[in-house]
Parts: sequence; structure tokens; C-alpha cells
Amino acid sequence: MSGLETSVEALKRLEAEALEAVAGAEDAGSLEDLRVLYVGRKDGKISGVLRGLGKLPPQDRPVLGAEANRVKASVQRALEERKDELASGRKGRHPGLDLSLPGRPVWRGGRHPVTQVVDEIWEIFRSLGFTRARGPEVETDWYNFVALNTPLDHPVVDEADTLYLKSGLLLRTHTSPVQIRIMERYEPPVRIIAPGMVYRRDTPDATHTPAFLQLEGLVVDEGITFVDFKATLAEFARRFWGPGTKVRFRPSFFPFTEPSAEVDVKRVATRPDGSLEETDWLEIMGAGMVDPAVLENVGYDPERYTGYAFGMGPARMAALKFGIRDIRMFYDNDIRFLSQFAQP
Ligand code: DAH
Repeated sequence: MSGLETSVEALKRLEAEALEAVAGAEDAGSLEDLRVLYVGRKDGKISGVLRGLGKLPPQDRPVLGAEANRVKASVQRALEERKDELASGRKGRHPGLDLSLPGRPVWRGGRHPVTQVVDEIWEIFRSLGFTRARGPEVETDWYNFVALNTPLDHPVVDEADTLYLKSGLLLRTHTSPVQIRIMERYEPPVRIIAPGMVYRRDTPDATHTPAFLQLEGLVVDEGITFVDFKATLAEFARRFWGPGTKVRFRPSFFPFTEPSAEVDVKRVATRPDGSLEETDWLEIMGAGMVDPAVLENVGYDPERYTGYAFGMGPARMAALKFGIRDIRMFYDNDIRFLSQFAQP
């Protein structure tokens, strides 16, 4: 092989080497290094070949010179193209990946609106010294009814209202059995909040779903009075609904409390002109002083201890709070509805 052929081969190898390096360069800095290395005017490898032409026999100069110029132009073109690619964010090592396309929105999870309300309620009671508790969703007649002073011939025990399992166990119809489970395990003072799912044989409509969340509260200690009961629940209502909220305790009946009450709130807002805007009375919970028979059922001395209890429906509270007319929306899990309540 002649010296000329060897030199042409060497140039082609240099070209292949340069093109591969350029294609693999990932930023402008390494491209500049490659430019200097191959086509730099002073020390570039290709420029070196051109500069050495003078030492070749005159007849070889034009061929090798033309080849060196072609390789130089080819490498320069590759450098330019790669620079453009990197600048526009295209291709890179992943052909087909176009980094200049607008990004797709990233889904971000959010707390369910009813969970947000539970957390808000919990936060208020936590600051008032309550602890969070929970109990099983599958219960016995004893915990769900009897221990709560509800005899088994009471209408709520009816199979028309309660979902019984084959075993004779049942799906709890309220969170009140958690009261019994907690008092059985702990001596007073007791001060708990217990949110959880409850189940009823209800036909779904705008205000009922067969499975829904309840939130139970229980306080038992020496010297707990009706004043503690009213003051604590009124304080809760004003913190949850706003400082101007009016609170009303309406006499009611529950087997496990005596006396019993339903708690209503009237939200009061100030219009921009200073006048007041009031809602209707909204019922937010059932409550009362714990019936001494319930305390006896768990082995507490009713002569020594007194207490109060309450139960509310966080989905109902969320519906009132957010102005939702159909409570089923909260349980349908339609992301178009739920995402409106997303919090940052
Ligand atoms: N358990 C009742 C219900 O499901 C709600 C309730 C009322 C709970 C009064 C209480 C209470 O703790 O004292 O309708």
C-alpha cells in the first residue's frame, strides 16, 4: 500500500472517530473540546494533516489535500448539527424524544374532601385534649346495641335497618360501640374522638348512603357536667363554622345518653355592607350526657363518673361546608368532582 493510500485511510479513520465522538457529546462544552481536538486551527488533528502536506511528494498533495478538506468539512458539519440538536433539546441519546414538547400535567394526589373535614374536626378536638381511637367495623349485638342501652327489641335493631352477617355478627350501624370498647379497656379519664365507616340498610338518596363515615366523641371523668358538654361542643362548632356561629341544643332522645340533644348551628356571615347574613339552623350532631346504665355496663361507677358523648357525620358536614346538595357525590369517586377540593 502506498504512503498516499495509508494517509487517506488514516484520515477516514480520523473522520469516523470524530463523528462518533460528536454524536455522543452531551453538552456545548464537550463539543467545543472536540472541535479543538479535531479541527482546531493550531493543534487540531485534521489541520495537522493539512499542514504536513508540504512534506509529501508533489503529486500526492492534491489528493490528500482534497480528502483532508472533505473530512474537515464533514466534521465541522457534524459539530454544527449536534450543537443545534443540543440547543433545541432534541434527540440526544434518545432519538424520538423531543424535549421541546410541552410537558404533560403530573397527577398529584389530594386528600378526599370528607377526609379534609375529618382532619379539621380532629385538629380542633386534639387541641382540646382529645385522643384518636378506633374500633372494628364488624361488631356484635352487645357492642352495637345492648351495651349502649339499646334493647334488642328496639326498632333500630331490626333487620330492616341493620346489615347482619351469616355468623350473627353485624356491620356496625354507628361508631358508638367504640365508646364501649374504649371504656372496657381504659379507666377514666377518657377523652376520645373515633372516626370510622358505618353501615345501614338504606336506599341511597341525596342525604343517605348505605356506607358512610361517622365521628364519635366521648368524655368521661369525675365531675364532668352539662356545662362542660355544652361549652366544649359550642367551642367546637364556632371553631369549625366560624366565630359568629350560633349554637343551639335541642332536646332529643338516644338510648345511650340522658339527657340527649341534637346540636344545631346557624352560620352568620357579615356582608360587605356590614349587614348580617344567616343560614337556617343546620343539624350537625347527636349528643348527650352518657347514660349511667352505659357506664355500669363497662364497669365504671356511675356515682363517681359522669360524661358526655356525641356523634356526627363528616360527609354531611362537608356537604354543608362546601354547598354540595347530593352526599353521594362524595362516595362516587369521580375525579372531576373530587379534584375541585384538591389542596396544595
Ligand atoms: N350513634 C348516633 C347515630 O348513629 C349518633 C349519636 C348520638 C352518637 C348521640 C352519640 C350520641 O355519641 O351521644 O345516630
